[in-house]
Amino acid sequence: MKAINTMSLTFDSLEVNESFARSAAAGFFTQLDPTVEELCDIRTAVSEAVTNAIVHGYRRGAGKVRLTARIYPGRKITVAVRDSGCGIADIEKAMEPLYTTDPEGERSGLGFSVMQSFMDAVRVSSAPGKGTTVTMQRTLSPLPERGEAE
Ligand SMILES: Nc1ncnc2c1ncn2[C@@H]1O[C@H](COP(=O)(O)OP(=O)(O)O)[C@@H](O)[C@H]1O
Ligand SMILES: [Mg+2]
Repeated sequence: MKAINTMSLTFDSLEVNESFARSAAAGFFTQLDPTVEELCDIRTAVSEAVTNAIVHGYRRGAGKVRLTARIYPGRKITVAVRDSGCGIADIEKAMEPLYTTDPEGERSGLGFSVMQSFMDAVRVSSAPGKGTTVTMQRTLSPLPERGEAE
């Protein structure tokens, strides 16, 4: 399916850019008039993916993170977060709840679980030494089906 609108941005892998990235994604999707909850979920999922790129992909070192947000017909959205960092050798293991390679830090090993629970689908493609792309997808609730309060 072809996207009807696309936004892409590249930023330095600095932890200060995490809030910028999630706000930028949320701002882009505002045109679909999502619910407050939907926007909050998307922000949280983007935050986890971007933090992973910075903290794990580049091990807090220098690099570029690319965020691409897409809108498809039927209120389907995707967000892809790509780094050119260390990559993931065993994706299945990395996505297991509570699995973390950074136990000393404040990481909980629940980043992928959070992404999966807040989005409809999460796809990871990665190559050791080359980098990682996490693509998350969600279909927003249809506008007319909302409560009268809106
Ligand atoms: N972009 C990435 N590059 C390399 N490794 C990653 C990346 N994202 C996640 N990982 C690996 O997957 C593990 C699990 O990620 P996550 O569920 O977010 O937990 P946490 O970030 O708390 O460790 C990380 O500890 C790391 O080993
Ligand atoms: Mg994480």
